Amino acid sequence: MEKNAAKARIDELRAVLNENSRLYYVENAPVMSDYEFDTLMHELEALETEYPEFITEDSPTRHPGSDIGTGFVKRKHRYPMLSLANTYSIGEVEEFSDRVSKALQGRNFSYSCELKFDGTAICLTYRHGRLFRALTRGDGVMGDDVTANARRIANIPVELKGEGIPEEFEIRGEVLMPYESFERLNHEREVQEEMPFANPRNAASGSLKLQDSEEVASRGLFCTLYHIPAGQVDYPTHDAALSAAASWGLPVSEHRRICHGISEIEDFIGYWDKERKNLPYATDGIVIKVNELDIQEELGYTAKSPRWAVAYKYKAEQALTPILSIDYQVGRTGAVTPVANLEPVFISGTMVKRATLVNEDQIRMLDIHEGDYVYVEKGGEIIPKITGVEESKRVPGAVRPAFPSVCPDCGTPLVREEGEAKWFCPNSKSCPTQIKGRLEHFVSRKAMNILCGEATVCQLFDAGLLRKPSDFYRLRKWDIISLEGWQDKSVSRFLDSIAASKAVPFERVLFAVGIRFVGETTARDIARHFGDIGRLASASKEELLEVPEVGGVIADSVYAYFRDEDNMAEIEALKAAGLRFSSEAAAEKASAALEGKTIVISGNFSISRDDMKALIEAHGGKAGSSVSGKTAYLLAGEKPGPEKLKKAAELGIPVISEADFRAMIPASGSNSNTIIEEPTLF
Ligand code: IVH
Repeated sequence: MEKNAAKARIDELRAVLNENSRLYYVENAPVMSDYEFDTLMHELEALETEYPEFITEDSPTRHPGSDIGTGFVKRKHRYPMLSLANTYSIGEVEEFSDRVSKALQGRNFSYSCELKFDGTAICLTYRHGRLFRALTRGDGVMGDDVTANARRIANIPVELKGEGIPEEFEIRGEVLMPYESFERLNHEREVQEEMPFANPRNAASGSLKLQDSEEVASRGLFCTLYHIPAGQVDYPTHDAALSAAASWGLPVSEHRRICHGISEIEDFIGYWDKERKNLPYATDGIVIKVNELDIQEELGYTAKSPRWAVAYKYKAEQALTPILSIDYQVGRTGAVTPVANLEPVFISGTMVKRATLVNEDQIRMLDIHEGDYVYVEKGGEIIPKITGVEESKRVPGAVRPAFPSVCPDCGTPLVREEGEAKWFCPNSKSCPTQIKGRLEHFVSRKAMNILCGEATVCQLFDAGLLRKPSDFYRLRKWDIISLEGWQDKSVSRFLDSIAASKAVPFERVLFAVGIRFVGETTARDIARHFGDIGRLASASKEELLEVPEVGGVIADSVYAYFRDEDNMAEIEALKAAGLRFSSEAAAEKASAALEGKTIVISGNFSISRDDMKALIEAHGGKAGSSVSGKTAYLLAGEKPGPEKLKKAAELGIPVISEADFRAMIPASGSNSNTIIEEPTLF
């Protein structure tokens, strides 16, 4: 390449790589696949080798990306957290092994081959056998202090046990989100119309950096550790150091093997190429490390990575398959998403039948025609992506799909506002899909937590029993019992969960009513700022903007919501049903029926244990944790703890059932005169 052209290409590559690094590490929303990113990085490295005069210290080839975010204390790493040289070719692994052998001039050594875990890096420091600090990689030099969050990751020990634990040492590894937790999280996010995470890696990284450690604990993260920086522990090999760490209770992967040369390394790579698909978490390659720690030290580091290790990465699995048809799905907010139905094809162990086409622009960018064969990729990503079209297989005369001009559900002409990437169905009041979407959101776990899935919402909607959230509070046993699939017990459980939802705090009610752009966190901020619905409904846009983190788009949406007559009528109906529309109402108590009584709960109930405790407190009681002489009742659900039952019997404390308990409290809070009766409840 001619020198000027090389310089221009170098600048272009740096800009693209820096931007994708930011999207990957900071936004947790990469737009490029790992393979594309690595290929461009290798091209930049080759150009910088050819034209060393263009090398700059800030080039992405010389620094790992940075995941430094806001809201955490930044701390310097004792040893910089570097990345690994990586390759997609066995030939290059062989070159690495030749280089190492040559440098060692015939000395004996071995390799530790391990899985390359596809999560987010973490560095743990233990001091006097206790977890002292946890830092993210950050920019490799400084990391975010996420100690409080790390303590809530189930398999990270807070205290070590065993022999020979150094007074202080660092150990590094990866925080991962298993596929199962990832799917659950994304499902919840979709119900709440929040952007789903693109893959488990992004979900792990986003979760580790949450401000709320409680929420971190609920995300199902786990950790696996793979590196103790040299000089901190006294073992001859990396493998022995990891085994010692495992004996102290640290989570170290057992999927590693000592290899003696390229053919054993190749066997390991080949074995895991297939076997990794059976793991419950994402891996994207194999890491090959020189095992002897003195040799590691001798080989040392480049600016960016150790010379004693290389990562072999598996290419994301791709398949070519034809598009059978395109569906246009309408969401709760009316946004229309095109989804391709594909000729089913196996990718990474699962059958892929559908893939999102995101929006009209994406269809145009990929230049999709009807019946096209498309490349579908499912690397670390669970949601399959269409990455390109095989034009040579296009049927002559094939046409571009016509994006619908009317809502596929209710037939209303679609609109696309300035600056929006999606088309919307504006018929929010009566488009059935939007109504059902809002009802599903209302009942979801983080909103009202009513025991009601998508199928039940549809069934009750089709039966004409549900249109608005307030309709849930009008449901009677006799309305439901005649419908298919319902029995006495299931109806009672359902109605109980509706009744229990009246104890849900104001901030979650505000989230549940589904104001556009008001997610869980924004609802909490707004509820705390205004304290009750009256003050919120009469707030001006300027007053709304005073809420931290509320910008123009949210303020406009909230303002418009409370200027709509139907919305206000619905709020009134929900208020009349006894829902909380004030933060103080929680403290005011729904009744004083349990005043001065400490109640200990044990076992499972028709509502969650937290909701049961909230219910006790809402009626003036105290939720105790262990049975003692001060306990008024032991409230026993299904499968109560035998120890608690025994203690209650010893102390002569009455044991009551959920039904007994419910009989002690009024049907709902202080508004019981305005409540619709629920005869099935007690
Ligand atoms: S060793 C000095 N071992 O991959 C470098 N890293 O692409 C020590 N990774 O930054 C790292 N699995 O976050 C090592 N078994 C493994 C790994 C691993 C995943 C990550 C790590 C690193 C990145 C490089």
